[in-house]
Amino acid sequence: MADTYILGIESSCDETAAAVVCSGERLISNVVASQIGTHQAYGGVVPELASREHLKAIVPVVRTALADAGQTYQSLDALAVTQGPGLAGALLVGISYAKALAFALDKPLIAVNHLEGHIHAVLLEERQKGNREVRFPALALVVSGGHTHLYLAEQHGETWSYRNIGHTRDDAAGEAFDKVAKLLGLGYPGGPVIDRLSTHGDARAVRFPLSQIKHRDRNQKLKEDGLRFDFSYSGLKTAVLRYVETHHMQKAIEHRRQVLGAMGEPKLEDLLRHCDRTTLDLVASFQRTMVEDLIAKTLSAARACDAATLFVTGGVAANSELRQRFEQDAAQEGLPVYFPSRALSTDNAAMIAAAAYPKFVAGDFAAMDFSAEAAMKL
Ligand code: KG4
Ligand code: ZN
Repeated sequence: MADTYILGIESSCDETAAAVVCSGERLISNVVASQIGTHQAYGGVVPELASREHLKAIVPVVRTALADAGQTYQSLDALAVTQGPGLAGALLVGISYAKALAFALDKPLIAVNHLEGHIHAVLLEERQKGNREVRFPALALVVSGGHTHLYLAEQHGETWSYRNIGHTRDDAAGEAFDKVAKLLGLGYPGGPVIDRLSTHGDARAVRFPLSQIKHRDRNQKLKEDGLRFDFSYSGLKTAVLRYVETHHMQKAIEHRRQVLGAMGEPKLEDLLRHCDRTTLDLVASFQRTMVEDLIAKTLSAARACDAATLFVTGGVAANSELRQRFEQDAAQEGLPVYFPSRALSTDNAAMIAAAAYPKFVAGDFAAMDFSAEAAMKL
């Protein structure tokens, strides 16, 4: 098939993104406008503000993605847009814009599930590196601010199937990072800050119990709907809160919140200057607990499902300790593990354009009356 240039558009949360990908295997341009500055003061994404910021950013972001790719609206083969899951208002900005563009240009439009996009970020980069050896089924851990999902992904010719075998029962992993950082006065988003601070603390200092999920009788469950490997992180977040209370850390946290909040984007030295040993140890122990739980559950799911390969993707896949430990532990089991680059781990539109390619080949185009699906399943 001739080279196929797809423009991807992503606006499901707090990043307005556009990218051009050729035939699902070559990243031509990738533009991401982050709204972190807008939401920082609130310690989390404010949906109303997110929609408004998308409206402001979408036209310049798409124009830049096209210009960077040396493409024009006319030279594109198709457009792709995130349909869900995500914030309804935010999704609608991307969808309305993509629909209008596709209609005006008379080009096909492809609707993509955001989670499928995170999985295809891995495939895009492996193909770009020339790796044609990825074996299937692949067990994909999609781990971000909104999701902690396990999918068994398989390719059948040009089409893909995904079987969900686990998800979080409460907070997503990235949400736990964000909430713990907020609780400790470390700012938003929490993942990158905790990642950087953790190397300066003792990860064995605080012992947190790992979440135990009660599954019904495994054999019974297997007959009904297959094995489940669920996660739960709200207990861990509460354990951190309890630790803060029993160690009388609140006053120091309030002071840190004010000082760091006034700085906007504090540097590592600033963060370290305002964190005592107890805080650094607490942060490192929290991250270690998260990492060990994510890895243990993913590896036991991989064994039970006879997965040939592991994918770890989504914002939390940018975490340094998670990457190192996954590589080490998966290697011991003889399992290859693939991560996207850090730029394609967090939300982007290249993954949307890449996931759209097999749908383009299959002629799986969106009807013009499709709409945002905030709780879309994969
Ligand atoms: O995939 P993403 O950009 O958006 C969603 O689909 O949610 O993920 C954002 C999440 C946030 O919760 C953020 O704190 C987390 O990913 N994150 C990290 C790191 N970088 C981003 N968590 C841990 N370590 C990191 N280095
Ligand atoms: Zn995401």
